[in-house]
Amino acid sequence: MKPKSKHILITGTSSGIGYGAAKELIHRGYTVFGSVRKKEDGEKVRTELGERFIPFVFDVTDQPAIDAAVEDVKKHLNGSGLAGLINNSGISVTGPVEHLDIEKVAYNFDVNVLGIFRLTKAFLPLLGTQKDHPTQPGRILNVSSVAGKLCAPFMAPYTGTKHAVEGISHCLRRELLPYGIDVIIIGPGPVQTPIWDKGGLDEFKNTRYIASMVKFFTYFVTSGKNGMPLEECSQRIANILEASKPNVRYALVQGKFKNWTLPLMMPPRAVDKFFQKNFG
Ligand SMILES: NC(=O)c1ccc[n+]([C@@H]2O[C@H](COP(=O)([O-])OP(=O)(O)OC[C@H]3O[C@@H](n4cnc5c(N)ncnc54)[C@H](OP(=O)(O)O)[C@@H]3O)[C@@H](O)[C@H]2O)c1
Repeated sequence: MKPKSKHILITGTSSGIGYGAAKELIHRGYTVFGSVRKKEDGEKVRTELGERFIPFVFDVTDQPAIDAAVEDVKKHLNGSGLAGLINNSGISVTGPVEHLDIEKVAYNFDVNVLGIFRLTKAFLPLLGTQKDHPTQPGRILNVSSVAGKLCAPFMAPYTGTKHAVEGISHCLRRELLPYGIDVIIIGPGPVQTPIWDKGGLDEFKNTRYIASMVKFFTYFVTSGKNGMPLEECSQRIANILEASKPNVRYALVQGKFKNWTLPLMMPPRAVDKFFQKNFG
């Protein structure tokens, strides 16, 4: 039997879920190659997490920078393979479709969807598609969201990207069966991360949607800020990475019946009525 690698690549480790996963996996003995977009973020995280955090500066929309990172990762691996790739980097573009800036929508897909294609394609050889791969096949964890299956108003761009992540992950998992590289979807509900401070409604203040948007985003951001503690999410992601027989998808959702199972069971028209009644 080939040896197991203890090296993981995680995108988006400057904050939030990527940072938390890096911290937990380092605690469990892994070396983490963590992507950041600013050199100073990499230095900060390395100071906090120690020398088994190795920062790589690249944007998931920048193919040449990703290609350069592959070469650097290879040098660090020194002939070994990767135990995992966690495609975590993500942003959220929201707003009513009638007033959306299409460039922003395209950028959301560039980061959340094409980013996963770029990273996966670039690192597949190190996960196990290369000839005579030296270690056991690695595992890909794609960070989706409850929005990978549940749909709320004003969330079309982000929800579109996460639905895409779900479909891509299922296709990829079936494609990679011959290599033994598993692909698992992580579907968090609200988790306490800085993502909840990154939106704003100003752009839409003169539209007919604004009153509903204020109600909806007040509820949504409040549930995010009171969401799953980052430590719990990080431990669950690390458990999934190490599980001997993982499921294909994990809903990391608090109040799972009310916030996940029930909305999935409800007829779509009944969900429409729920939104109309509560948010106008
Ligand atoms: N928090 C939640 O409740 C929640 C729920 C469901 C799903 N998710 C998903 O979880 C993932 C992480 O989100 P988070 O909550 O941890 O948010 P976060 O704290 O805002 O972290 C997002 C990370 O992605 C990075 N990133 C953004 N754009 C990038 C780009 N173009 N190239 C490379 N990296 C980029 C950010 O780097 P910079 O610091 O350089 O911007 C940051 O490290 C996302 O995919 C998100 O959709 C989050």
